[in-house]
Amino acid sequence: MARRQTRASSRGGWLPWLGLALLPLAVPPAAAPGGCPSPCYCVATPELVQCRYERLEELPKELPLTVHNLSITGSNLSILHRAAFASHPLPDLRLLRLRHDNIQIVEDMALQGLPSLQTLDLSHNPLLSVAAGAFAEAPLLRTLQLNQALLAAPLEDQLASALGNLSLRRLELAGNALRALPATLLPAGLEELDLRNNSLEGLAAAELRSLDAPGLKGLRVTLGANPWSCDCSLRPFLAWLRAAASRVPDARSLRCAGPPPLRGTALLRLRPEGLPCTAGEGGEPGRLETASYVFFGIVLALIAIVFLMVLYLNRRGIKRWLHNLREACRDQMEGYHYRYEQDADPRCTSAISTPGL
Ligand SMILES: *[C@@H]1O[C@H](CO)[C@@H](O)[C@H](O)[C@H]1NC(C)=O
Ligand SMILES: *[C@@H]1O[C@H](CO)[C@@H](O)[C@H](O)[C@H]1NC(C)=O
Ligand SMILES: *[C@@H]1O[C@H](CO)[C@@H](O)[C@H](O)[C@H]1NC(C)=O
Ligand SMILES: *[C@@H]1O[C@H](CO)[C@@H](O)[C@H](O)[C@H]1NC(C)=O
Repeated sequence: MARRQTRASSRGGWLPWLGLALLPLAVPPAAAPGGCPSPCYCVATPELVQCRYERLEELPKELPLTVHNLSITGSNLSILHRAAFASHPLPDLRLLRLRHDNIQIVEDMALQGLPSLQTLDLSHNPLLSVAAGAFAEAPLLRTLQLNQALLAAPLEDQLASALGNLSLRRLELAGNALRALPATLLPAGLEELDLRNNSLEGLAAAELRSLDAPGLKGLRVTLGANPWSCDCSLRPFLAWLRAAASRVPDARSLRCAGPPPLRGTALLRLRPEGLPCTAGEGGEPGRLETASYVFFGIVLALIAIVFLMVLYLNRRGIKRWLHNLREACRDQMEGYHYRYEQDADPRCTSAISTPGL
């Protein structure tokens, strides 16, 4: 009995007690303008406001002016409107976390009124459109988190123009099913790029060149949890990785997803020149072989058709030739019969060879 009680209190029962402990510090809900908006929690000082899993349809209005970090998760914001914060500016807000908020559209000037914003987290939203000026008016924005936010629509071009005028330092694009390096999204001066849990099978020479562009010399990329395809097309990337391992902090965790004999092998344990070209299932070599068989078959069929056509066109000549041959044979046979009247087994070939005897 007592045990059950303690377990219950260790699971969720501590929350009210924590609330009580923080009560003297917390701003009472539904406070005057500048207080904490009713569905949200203001923790400690009103510097950190969290609105979690409240079905907000729009951003809360009466936020404390001093808030540094604002986190709204699990709501249904749908659209991040133009100048959503402009009527109640938050001059000190540095971090805005809007995860799992069903945000689909980010309009122009969405961050107006947040002059100090440094970190924007739009992860886990089904983004459909991002206006070119969406992040304008946030000159200090340095970190943008878009993990699992680009799965609903191909947004690379729109994002490229939205990021164009920013001086980002960190960009997170994990879990977006990316099949190639999003080279257009890498502003000069970027220092950290998170591409974990995407669909990268390798990086081509051109992609590696864009990572070595002058403005991106200091860039570090995390690439774990991608399905690396360890055949010979991976050679340029592997050579680059071995030479620049410090630029990929999680280089040691990269593993092959195929071909089967190499599945699970750490990339850094492979030598570029040792990567086979033929082992790939349905890879380029396999496809080439099939193609050559098909080509061979077509050539054979063509030859057969030409042969049959020649036979068909020449059928009279062939008939005449056969007729002549038969006549010649019969003449020979008659001559044979004439000479050797009683023969049990007369054969044309022997008839041809016997007249000399
Ligand atoms: C606000 O966010 C920053 C960056 O994530 C963090 O370092 C800081 O501790 C947060 N402040 C509060 C009061 O939680
Ligand atoms: C979210 O809001 C939109 C309109 O803003 C509404 O059509 C939709 O049903 C809402 N979704 C949920 C899960 O509440
Ligand atoms: C980006 O900067 C250029 C000039 O540097 C300017 O013409 C353009 O309007 C800016 N775009 C945005 C979205 O602020
Ligand atoms: C990886 O990304 C996919 C979506 O692309 C997501 O469903 C999955 O949960 C992610 N895995 C991890 C471990 O984050």
